[in-house]
Amino acid sequence: MGKTVITFGTFDVFHIGHLRILERAAALGDRLVVGVSSDRLNFKKKGRYPVFKEADRMAIVAGLACVDEVFTEESLEWKGEYITTHKADILVMGDDWVGRFDEFKRLCDVVYLPRTDNISTTEILASVRAANL
Ligand code: CTP
Repeated sequence: MGKTVITFGTFDVFHIGHLRILERAAALGDRLVVGVSSDRLNFKKKGRYPVFKEADRMAIVAGLACVDEVFTEESLEWKGEYITTHKADILVMGDDWVGRFDEFKRLCDVVYLPRTDNISTTEILASVRAANL
């Protein structure tokens, strides 16, 4: 049986760090499923909506060669259910979350991958703002 990898994120203003983590996640198994967080969930979490709407963020992620399936992550509380429903063998998270998802080791392998240096959506938005583009 092939291994299914699952990962989660907002993937707003899609950048090279996003591509790299998805490619590395895909390389750990045979099939990559990505939970893209909903606009509502981002508002709850960060107090602002993403720049790109969830349908567009999902379409961008779904269009990548390394991604097999996308779904909307509606709640941070439902990771266990998403892992089970999608029959995931491996959960991949960025290493900014090291240790925070260890509870899911009862359901699947949990792997934290290093983030790409010097890039994030927050920094891109700040530099665009600062440059007054
Ligand atoms: N990620 C990464 N390298 C980066 C930025 C993000 O590997 N430089 C990974 C995160 O660890 C996560 C996924 O990409 O697994 C989605 O992250 P997301 O929070 O959507 O992207 P950020 O650019 O970190 O967004 P923000 O600045 O709004 O937190």
